Amino acid sequence: MSKMNNDFPPPMKMPSSDSNSRDSLDFLRKQVEQHHSRFEASIPLIASENLVSRAAMDMFTSDLHNRYAEGLPGSRYYEGNEDYDPIETHTENLAKKLFNAPFADVRPISGTAANISALFSLASPGDKFMAPELAAGAHISTQKFGAAGLRGLTTITYPSIHETMSIDTDLAVKSILQEKPRICYVGQSVYLFPNDLKPIVEAAKEVGANTMYDGAHVLGLIAGKQFQDPLGDGMDIITASTHKTFPGPQHGVILGNNDVELPNGKSLHKTIRNKVFPGVHSNHHLHKVAAFGVSLAEALEFQEDYAKDIISNAKALAEGLWNRGMKVFASEQGFTESHTVLVDVSERGGGADVSKRAESQGLIMNKNMLPGDTSAVKPSGIRLGTPEMTRLGMGKDAMDEVADLIHIASLGGNENEVRERAKALKQEYCKIHYCWGDGENAYSKPKWSEL
Ligand SMILES: Cc1ncc(COP(=O)(O)O)c(C=O)c1O
Repeated sequence: MSKMNNDFPPPMKMPSSDSNSRDSLDFLRKQVEQHHSRFEASIPLIASENLVSRAAMDMFTSDLHNRYAEGLPGSRYYEGNEDYDPIETHTENLAKKLFNAPFADVRPISGTAANISALFSLASPGDKFMAPELAAGAHISTQKFGAAGLRGLTTITYPSIHETMSIDTDLAVKSILQEKPRICYVGQSVYLFPNDLKPIVEAAKEVGANTMYDGAHVLGLIAGKQFQDPLGDGMDIITASTHKTFPGPQHGVILGNNDVELPNGKSLHKTIRNKVFPGVHSNHHLHKVAAFGVSLAEALEFQEDYAKDIISNAKALAEGLWNRGMKVFASEQGFTESHTVLVDVSERGGGADVSKRAESQGLIMNKNMLPGDTSAVKPSGIRLGTPEMTRLGMGKDAMDEVADLIHIASLGGNENEVRERAKALKQEYCKIHYCWGDGENAYSKPKWSEL
């Protein structure tokens, strides 16, 4: 592994157990400042991360952070929600408008919490759950050791097309008709291309299954009308995180199509309400709901342009890597139609080595399993994403420079050169765009209270 240079000093020594408690405050503040400096000087390539706008972030420090609001607007188990209730109702209305959704629940505190709430709504222990393969990009929520296992479901995977990390729709339909699952789930953490949803919805209907689209990664592309329209294609619900391609606070959401009756005769919408609370949550982080409201309002104005630019940047990044001889997935299909680029770096030391080496040179990415891999710790690939770089205003030329830096870093090339070029490029792109207050510094350090 490369040694850290001066831009990226190693973490400070942690205060010992017998040190003064103010030393802890000092340590925590300095370590946060160091984190800001690192990101200010690095190229952010994590596909699941983004920058929330300042207008949304302002809500984090409001008094809402100190409050509870169990239940639903107008029927709470706590007093003190007179002013908060309209905030939650308005946020739900904005979500319904942006996604053209008959139903929205904005209380899940993350994509995983949304998935757990949905799986507890739609299925019972012992039921069959159909999802993509883990090595074809599925999220841990679909696995025995994730949310599906927590609900006691048996996961059966759709046959996939490995070249594109997609579901093989024809074979998937056959599997659905044969296996008769309770839930047909579509969604991935490596989501390169939209899936053909209508045949899956039709097959699910034929066997009495409900359909669930996990849009955690692509929610912002759906909001910007640049990926696919899962509710329009007939999926029953969308679960999602609100902070990946959708540049909101770290939170979750469940969006629903017209209500349907579950096998137990109950309404799907009412069941989701009950599973979100009191099933999975107590506190649902009211300051994040308000921030999500701000991000939804911003998205109505900016998301279409933003989503288009995220995708064109991903294509440009993929091309830049391919032109330099890197093994980018799905070359014959145009590499990607989303925010994500997947690269096989097995001939350059593997995903773990390449991503660690790149980090020390100012390129922040993650290692990723590829089809055929058996280890998540030492996988063959790297996953790259363009949401944050695009948010900072980078365009196609910048993507070509980033591709060059990734190419050199992955070969173990000149460390200082990569570091200096990454830093110089990043200096030009530290401001947030596609939101109100366009041009605010993305990484300014927190203003600490005087104590
Ligand atoms: C497809 C998918 N679903 C769900 C999640 C979980 O979201 P969260 O991190 O908000 O819990 C992720 C996270 O990356 C994901 O990729």
